[in-house]
Amino acid sequence: MTVPARSAEGPLLDVRDLVVHFDARAAMFRRGRQTARAVDGVSFSVDAGETLGLVGESGCGKSTTGRALLKLVKPTAGSVSFQGEDLLATRGRDLKRLRRGLQAVFQDPYDSLNPRMRIRDIVGEPLIIHGLATGATRRRQILELMERVGLSEDLANRLPAELSGGQRQRVGIARALAVNPSFIVCDEAVSALDVSVQAQVLNLLRRLQQDLGLSYLFISHDLSVVRHVSDRVAVMYAGKLAESASSEVLYARPYHPYTLSILAAAPVADPDVERRRPDEPVTGEAPSPVHPPSGCRFHPRCPLAQDRCRTEEPELVEVEPGRWTACHFWRTLKDGGGTTPASAPRAPVKVS
Ligand SMILES: Nc1ncnc2c1ncn2[C@@H]1O[C@H](COP(=O)(O)OP(=O)(O)OP(=O)(O)O)[C@@H](O)[C@H]1O
Ligand SMILES: [Mg+2]
Repeated sequence: MTVPARSAEGPLLDVRDLVVHFDARAAMFRRGRQTARAVDGVSFSVDAGETLGLVGESGCGKSTTGRALLKLVKPTAGSVSFQGEDLLATRGRDLKRLRRGLQAVFQDPYDSLNPRMRIRDIVGEPLIIHGLATGATRRRQILELMERVGLSEDLANRLPAELSGGQRQRVGIARALAVNPSFIVCDEAVSALDVSVQAQVLNLLRRLQQDLGLSYLFISHDLSVVRHVSDRVAVMYAGKLAESASSEVLYARPYHPYTLSILAAAPVADPDVERRRPDEPVTGEAPSPVHPPSGCRFHPRCPLAQDRCRTEEPELVEVEPGRWTACHFWRTLKDGGGTTPASAPRAPVKVS
């Protein structure tokens, strides 16, 4: 099932049944190969000018999803359509052109910036790689890009180590913008920054979106940041989407017990959510991507779990316009039930 974008002209990015499996080496005393199901059938769309937030606990497959869109990892199955073209089937020059439209900003700029290159060369490198500008035009464009992200001209000759974390992240953004993309995967793009610097970089991303009509896939473990920047939010659990809705709706009234439990870890002002949410954030271990639980992957940790959840995998279905939920018992939360033992249909399942 696909979580569709909202525009009538069709989405900018359309991901269907994306699967990314890795070879996970078995422990030495075991035989044979094992498969890590990092992403196991994920579908979503993103419109032009829209931000889709992607949240979920560590290891659930957020970065792998983003990396598959960028073709940094090879999908095992599924399709990715970007600007109406099949990204996964495209090769050669066409791929290079399509790739220009899809850029990334990662968490740690140190990882992505060559420490020996000057800032002007880092920002200008994509212009060379894609043959977009030479000589004086390139020099002018580099300074324009730096100005656009709030970096003063006198930083052009510095090395990455001579910049602050926030400045380095601005360099990463300028570099992504150099090729004039329409879509940027922001993978924990502000997670390493201090809160005040985070706010500045988030404001910059928002301004760039307004000025340039950019779309973002905004990946983060920080629910309050995601809420702040996203039009819609998709919640991922163990390689699959658990729920997706507009940011406002999802945070105000989650229907999936996993969404509710991760909100328990984030501050929520809404008294209604406050009343329904569990005292503790989700407890127990995240499931192994090599041996995911049967049925609903969340069932071993879910206070609402019943027999059906152990055997029957819930599909992601549109339970209300624009709201997609993969839970057999979503109505329990819709109708105001909590996930505490007193209000749940049965006592919490013990996490083994
Ligand atoms: N190259 C790889 N080879 C084998 N397993 C991998 C590889 N990349 C990721 N994985 C596994 O896939 C799963 C999903 O990883 P991923 O990095 O996508 O999670 P994530 O949601 O981004 O987590 P985090 O919040 O910690 O960044 C994890 O179990 C991870 O160990
Ligand atoms: Mg990640």
